[in-house]
This record gives sequence, structure tokens and C-alpha cells, in this order.
Amino acid sequence: MIIAPSLLAANHACFGKEAVRATKAGADWLHLDIMDGHFVPNISFGPQVVKAIRPLTKIFFDVHLMCSKPQILLEPFAQAGADEIIIHVELGEQVPSLIWKIKSLGKKVGLAVNPPTPISLVQPHLDKIDLLLVMTVNPGFGGQSFIHECLPKIQQAEAWRREKQLRYRIEVDGGINNQTAAECARAGADTFVAGTSLFGQRSLKVAINKMRKIINAHDPALADLKA
Ligand code: DX5
Ligand code: ZN
Repeated sequence: MIIAPSLLAANHACFGKEAVRATKAGADWLHLDIMDGHFVPNISFGPQVVKAIRPLTKIFFDVHLMCSKPQILLEPFAQAGADEIIIHVELGEQVPSLIWKIKSLGKKVGLAVNPPTPISLVQPHLDKIDLLLVMTVNPGFGGQSFIHECLPKIQQAEAWRREKQLRYRIEVDGGINNQTAAECARAGADTFVAGTSLFGQRSLKVAINKMRKIINAHDPALADLKA
């Protein structure tokens, strides 16, 4: 199971220190939310921030592009140090060429699906991606409430992965706390983005350890082993 704190919820006055803090606190990945003020009604940070924090930590950079024109951003983020680049299936016809371009840059590729978007839209791409991101809030802001109606989409993604013997990770993002992380783990998620519920705690390390314990306790794969 992977826990990926979202830097969007960290102290924006010191991204470098916050990236090191998350690494030392035991995070597996760092989730970097890139917002262009067009695909979502908010602006966050760009490739320069990623480039600045890259030398400070070896942690896996999971770059989530909530951007209408990701094609102009793929190279800058790849060069800045992204390990994985996630684009949205809502971009429609561009998706196949964007997936190809991310792979040609030598990066892992993720595909995100927003709450109102039918999960069926991602089906044609499942055999080409390393990660499927099931958004559990409407993207744009941290600190929103988890949308429970998204749980069946996680279950469907897990069923397709099993039936088609594919290997993409299932990531959830938005309103993830100990309670909702457990529900998502039970539904089949294995990668957990959390901003407010982790960076908002006094001890990031204690918060990550607690979430990890809860997630592992609700991991169906582990439950099968115990049975
Ligand atoms: C929302 C972002 C999420 C967000 C998660 O558009 O994609 O990654 O930062 O934040 P929390 O965990 O605070 O809901
Ligand atoms: Zn995100």
C-alpha cells in the first residue's frame, strides 16, 4: 500500500522543508497537485517548484496535472523530476497521445477520472497505464468532503484489473482520512493521496503510521491471507 501526502495541503511558504518533512515522516510518495486555473478553478504551483524540491529528497514524485493543455507541460515536469505524470480522462481524444508522450519521456503514466465521469471512459486505456486515479472529490481544492458515490468506481476498477490480469495501481485522492481510507482499501484502492488529514496533524509521522495501520488492516489481500 502506498501513502502519498499531497503537497497542496503543506505550508506553501516552505515547500522544500515540507517535502523533506514528508519524506522523513515515512511517506512513500509525494503527490504534487498542479492546477492551471482553467481545468480547475484554482492555481497551485509549476515545474519550477518541482525542480527546486527534487534535489532535496529521493521520494517518488506523483505529479497530478489538473490542466487543460497538459501537452505543453509534460516535458517541463519530466525534466523537473516527476516520476509519474497523471492526466485526466476528461481530456477526451487527446488521452492516447498524452499517454504515449508520457511513456516516451520515460515516466510512469496515470489516468484520473472525476466523480461525475463514468468509469467506463477509462476502459480503453487500462492496458496502457501504470495507475488509475479515482478522484473522490471534484478537483481543485484540498479539504473537501469525500464523495462516497465514488466507491463503486473503485470496486469496478479492481474487478477489471483482476479480470483482465492488468497491473495498474488504483489511487484515490480527495477527502482521504483514516475513515475514508479504510473504505477505499476495502473497495480495492492501494494508493492513497491525503493532504489535509496528514499535513493538518501535529505529527505527520504519527498520522502516516496510523493511516498505514488502518489501510493494511482493511486490505482485502491481507484479509484473504488471514482467512
Ligand atoms: C484536489 C487534489 C487533491 C487534494 C487532496 O484537487 O487533487 O490531491 O489536494 O486534498 P485533501 O486530502 O485535503 O482532500
Ligand atoms: Zn491530486
